[in-house]
Amino acid sequence: MKSSNFKIGWKTILKLGFLAFLIAIPLYGLYFWYRLDEPMIIKSLPDPFILNNGTRVSTEAEWNLRRNEIKETLQNLEYGHLPGNPDRIEVTNLSSQDLGEGKILNTLKMTIIPNNSLPETNFNFTLWVALPNGTGPFPTIVKVSEEGTGSQEPARDQVLTRGYIYVCFNHIELDPDITGNDIIGPCQQAYPSYDWGSIGVWAWGAMRVADYLLNETWVNAPDGIPNVDPSKLIITGHSRRGKTALLAGAFDERFTMVVPNESGCAGAGSFLIQGYISETIADITSPSRFRYWFNENFTKFAGNEVNIPFDQHFLRSLVAPRLILSMEATEDFWSNPIGSQAIYEAANPVFKFLDKEENNAIHYRGGFHGFTSEDFDTLMNFADKMLLNKSVVGNFYMTPYNIEFPIYYSEPL
Ligand code: GCU
Repeated sequence: MKSSNFKIGWKTILKLGFLAFLIAIPLYGLYFWYRLDEPMIIKSLPDPFILNNGTRVSTEAEWNLRRNEIKETLQNLEYGHLPGNPDRIEVTNLSSQDLGEGKILNTLKMTIIPNNSLPETNFNFTLWVALPNGTGPFPTIVKVSEEGTGSQEPARDQVLTRGYIYVCFNHIELDPDITGNDIIGPCQQAYPSYDWGSIGVWAWGAMRVADYLLNETWVNAPDGIPNVDPSKLIITGHSRRGKTALLAGAFDERFTMVVPNESGCAGAGSFLIQGYISETIADITSPSRFRYWFNENFTKFAGNEVNIPFDQHFLRSLVAPRLILSMEATEDFWSNPIGSQAIYEAANPVFKFLDKEENNAIHYRGGFHGFTSEDFDTLMNFADKMLLNKSVVGNFYMTPYNIEFPIYYSEPL
């Protein structure tokens, strides 16, 4: 039998492959462009006003009941449960650094004593308190994490120059953050009956920082506390620390302003309105990634968002009637900037119900993932305006996506 002369050589295969590649790139580019403004809508956003007994909130007192129900739902199905305050906190000043022009940086050791009769469960974490020039009382920014690590730009000078106290704390001393590794840190060891994941632990740590700054009765700080204005206590954080800041600020009403920066999935982003290539519950709860940030129940919703009885507007609504500014970046697709607009809009009826619609704010800058000096300026501009009554130019209610989100409820009349 004669064999055919027609043979496709490797060279031809490579050429065809290359051609296919050249055609695929612009096609994918077009698809990408189209999808960016076309989120996947899994279902409509649940009405936060429906009480567990099926009736709808109609008074402020009922909203306060509903608030507690929402807290329980979020602890039960997402972050795990957070304990109350410890028996005692001992604060030790480790060092004091003169930053010039009247500014000072104090490094402190916070010793947490969960139970006076169980000293073996005590643990420490580090706090950095930077003080501006003057005597105060000062508006104060608490930032989850050390100053200027990863994609966060250092902000200390900028913050102090604008007359704010700047407090950072080392959240990973409370629970380590090693991708794919669920380490039982000192907090979880001290409170073994709690099912909290790392985000819950870190948020609880932020609340202990507030204990100190507000000089609660269980705090012993022999060197005194900084002159914080308790009506101007701001909590912020970036990305995973933004999720943490939002949880802490939503649950702890001592924070008067809450500023999650590009906090995305399980932060100010949506599970149900999923922007193209944004992080899903399956992504975030993968055992090789960040399952340890949450409690076990949350993983049930991986790929099963249709059955989740809430979305993050429940968490956002808990901040009402206090101030929230979520800060987003339009090219930070992983953090779901479209979904954050949906969550902002879905929380609005709660702020309206409590007569504080102007306290629900959202800001978008161009660019990618990061906590930049521009973001800190946005934060302080909003704080100057809302907490210090200064006149400030800026749009804090930006809704860049022209999309009708499935929000089929409004505030009770
Ligand atoms: C990962 C994670 C995000 C998180 C981010 C960060 O990308 O998937 O959820 O926000 O890390 O913390 O920088």
